Amino acid sequence: MNTVKTVLELRAAVARARGEGKRIAFVPTMGNLHEGHVALVEKAGQRADFVVASIFVNPLQFGPKEDLASYPRTLAADQDKLVAAGCQLLFAPDVEEMYPHGMSGQTLVRVSGVSEGLCGGSRPGHFDGVATVVTKLFNMVQPDLAVFGEKDFQQLAVVRTLVHDLNMPIQIMGEPTVRAADGLALSSRNGYLDEAQRASAPALYRTLQQLAAAIRDGRRDFAQLEAEGKAALEQAGFRPDYLEIREAGSLRPASATDSRLVILGAAYLGSTRLIDNLAFEL
Ligand code: PAF
Repeated sequence: MNTVKTVLELRAAVARARGEGKRIAFVPTMGNLHEGHVALVEKAGQRADFVVASIFVNPLQFGPKEDLASYPRTLAADQDKLVAAGCQLLFAPDVEEMYPHGMSGQTLVRVSGVSEGLCGGSRPGHFDGVATVVTKLFNMVQPDLAVFGEKDFQQLAVVRTLVHDLNMPIQIMGEPTVRAADGLALSSRNGYLDEAQRASAPALYRTLQQLAAAIRDGRRDFAQLEAEGKAALEQAGFRPDYLEIREAGSLRPASATDSRLVILGAAYLGSTRLIDNLAFEL
């Protein structure tokens, strides 16, 4: 696997692969890779001949009080995992390479609709940062397809919308969340949890499962279910941020006649914010 740090080198390496007639897949990440990321790279390898990954902790998508400074940076270990997963090219740029004129004058990509509320409500500007960096990365790599994790369900909807709205000829694929044996969704932020918090953490997914079971059993009092779910999270030691039942395609609040639903939750254990979701059909 070749690791490059500049857009020039990236473009040259992708052009070589393209010249050999290869189909290009792209997996953007912020590094500190776990089995969930490995699954994305493996899926990319099944669907294309040449897999490009990126590792870039994107300052533009972090709020001023968020964990940009402490976000884990583990490049050497990540490179080993990418090689084992079948990645051929890693783009690992510095902030100056991605934002050579700083971030304040950076052209922004804003996706309306699906980026509002949920994480977009609690993290103002977050999805502008995601949509902007993903657009830049897509323009740099120009892949045929890109793979994203379904754990970031709203992010995946934002990316699908921007690709559609901006007519980008890129197929977007979502990969199911990879979970620990006790149900906790794998996340780079799980490393922030102490032992007691780690023991409480699976309650987030359990709560989503309980709400889904209640809906499958016929309940449609969504506001009441959301309130019960938040109370269950508090009981388990979380400070809930949001817990919402939405229509899975549009992400608008669910109505009693919807058949594709997703329950999305974000909650704090101490200062660590975990997110998870459960999508299902009735
Ligand atoms: O999901 C992530 O790791 C990031 O939000 C992404 C898509 C790499 C953009 O920085």
